[in-house]
Amino acid sequence: MIDLHTHILSDTDDGSGSFEESVALLYEAKKAGFSGVVCTPHYMQQFYERDVNYINNKIQELSLDSKRIGIHLYQGNEIYISNEVCKFIENNKVTTINNSRYVLLELALEEKPIKNTIEIIEDIIKKEYIPIIAYPERYPYIQKNIEYAKELLRKGALFQANYASIDGYYGSQVKKTLIKLLKGKMIQLLGTDVHKKRTMYINMPKYIKALSKYLSEDEIHELSYKNPIKVIHDEKITVDTDKL
Ligand SMILES: [Fe+2]
Repeated sequence: MIDLHTHILSDTDDGSGSFEESVALLYEAKKAGFSGVVCTPHYMQQFYERDVNYINNKIQELSLDSKRIGIHLYQGNEIYISNEVCKFIENNKVTTINNSRYVLLELALEEKPIKNTIEIIEDIIKKEYIPIIAYPERYPYIQKNIEYAKELLRKGALFQANYASIDGYYGSQVKKTLIKLLKGKMIQLLGTDVHKKRTMYINMPKYIKALSKYLSEDEIHELSYKNPIKVIHDEKITVDTDKL
């Protein structure tokens, strides 16, 4: 499997608290069955502003251990939605996933989306990037209105769900929404969104078992490996929006 969404780098955001914890996370990822991990530190103006070079250095620091453990590290960001996403990419403040067209985007975790969310998504797509919306199941406005999720997919966005959502880690409403999205074939990618050791990776067998109630083995393979590989290699992921 390839983990598309992680906070395993220390001194970068609210993720790993130390170099040692980062190494422990790599061991946990390997044991859970991952061979690749995309480092996606938060980028949110005024809160998390580590730039691309800083993140690259943090990945280099971990590279000896990641090679020894057998985890390939890729660079990315989880970018908080704003009018300036494309400008941040162009100015080397943030990076797409492994320099592909794919951009991991975090929407507002509030009752309502920020006003021009759809326009921002359209603008990102117009500039030839492909937005991947992180954890759609966690946003109240998607929980209450699945049509909003469909609209985002029709615009050309993709969805990355968090593994732990299926286990009720973020509450029953999140779990219920994920089940709805899975049944509607609206999830293209899975990631752990891991921040700390002994949280997500050690529970992966439980999450996979819970997901297998709603997805076939082939579908789990597609969402956890085949589609993440397409992202890393900058290959197209097609969504049949006519069936939504
Ligand atoms: Fe995250």
